[in-house]
Amino acid sequence: MRPQRPVRVGVMGCAEFALRRMLPAMADSPDIELAAVASRRPATAREVAARFGGSPVRDYERLLDFPDLDAVYIPLPNALHAEWVLRALDAGHHVLAEKPLTTRAGLTREAVRRAEGRGLALVENFLFVHHPQHARVRRLLQDEIGELRQMSAVFAIPPRPADDIRHRPDLGGGALLDVGVYPLRAAQHFLGTGLTVVGAALRQGPTGVDVEGSVLLRRADGVCAQLSFGMEHAYTSRYELWGSAGRITVNRAFTPPADQRPDVTVERDGAVRGIALPAADQCAAAVAAFAAAVRDPESCRAAAQRSADLARLTDDVRAAAAEDARHITAAVVPQGPGG
Ligand SMILES: NC(=O)c1ccc[n+]([C@@H]2O[C@H](COP(=O)([O-])OP(=O)(O)OC[C@H]3O[C@@H](n4cnc5c(N)ncnc54)[C@H](OP(=O)(O)O)[C@@H]3O)[C@@H](O)[C@H]2O)c1
Repeated sequence: MRPQRPVRVGVMGCAEFALRRMLPAMADSPDIELAAVASRRPATAREVAARFGGSPVRDYERLLDFPDLDAVYIPLPNALHAEWVLRALDAGHHVLAEKPLTTRAGLTREAVRRAEGRGLALVENFLFVHHPQHARVRRLLQDEIGELRQMSAVFAIPPRPADDIRHRPDLGGGALLDVGVYPLRAAQHFLGTGLTVVGAALRQGPTGVDVEGSVLLRRADGVCAQLSFGMEHAYTSRYELWGSAGRITVNRAFTPPADQRPDVTVERDGAVRGIALPAADQCAAAVAAFAAAVRDPESCRAAAQRSADLARLTDDVRAAAAEDARHITAAVVPQGPGG
């Protein structure tokens, strides 16, 4: 069989995460050719292109016109995703966009619809779903813990510097969109799509973004997921599946380093057993999966629909939290004399 040529990718913005994880993985991948790097900062575009490959490009608009580009990778602040995802699709490019794909369900639905209509791949960059430990957990779920009763998942990170995009409401900051989407995505992974938000609470920080949250989800058959997330917390990245006969716990669930063996345990009949699994590079796997999606855009349609469902769930969490906040406000309204 003739080897396929690498997918030519243009990078939109020299984001910290892109430089630390995605560009090294793309530069190492035989499936990807870094063709162009765009930045608002010309010197940074030059430096990053010299380091990882491709030509420096002065701004994002010009990147969309760069010759012979197949795809665009978008690691911009969350609030800018929708505009540039749609513009990249309209320019005929396949798109790999950072999570969350956009900040609102309506925008994500529109992006998914446009990608499908144009026969282009649109992929939301959740790395953890590419780690084989979760496929193994799915099998353990069937074989080891009886009937699934409940799930819980937590993702929380320590405080970021004051100038971080996560503190900026205008850039789509906040814990729900930055870290909350991970436990929500994990709940989809194990409980499926179409989950209902039973209740949610978000706590606002001083800059006006939410800095932590708790969510209760329910599946149609009554199985619930309790999720927590935050960005002012001791680092925690785990989930647990609790069944009628046992419990599976996964630590470092969302961000296991490529050289670290997974930490998966099964608790059953009073004994705790570690499950031996090899280390895996979920970032390299995500890059390979994106190249495969570009070569066969139909193969990523189900995942794009899951992204649309995740965005709907995220909107529902916001609405449930706003409802909760209204109750709290009503409860603390001072009573008048004699009230
Ligand atoms: N998948 C994952 O595991 C993962 C992990 C971390 C973050 N992320 C996602 O990656 C994205 C970027 O996060 P990050 O922490 O890497 O952010 P960051 O370092 O602040 O980078 C954002 C980039 O966006 C560009 N930009 C354009 N307009 C901007 C504006 N008004 N203010 C600030 N930057 C602007 C800048 O690139 P130029 O100046 O070069 O144009 C900047 O470097 C977010 O969507 C985040 O959710 C994903």
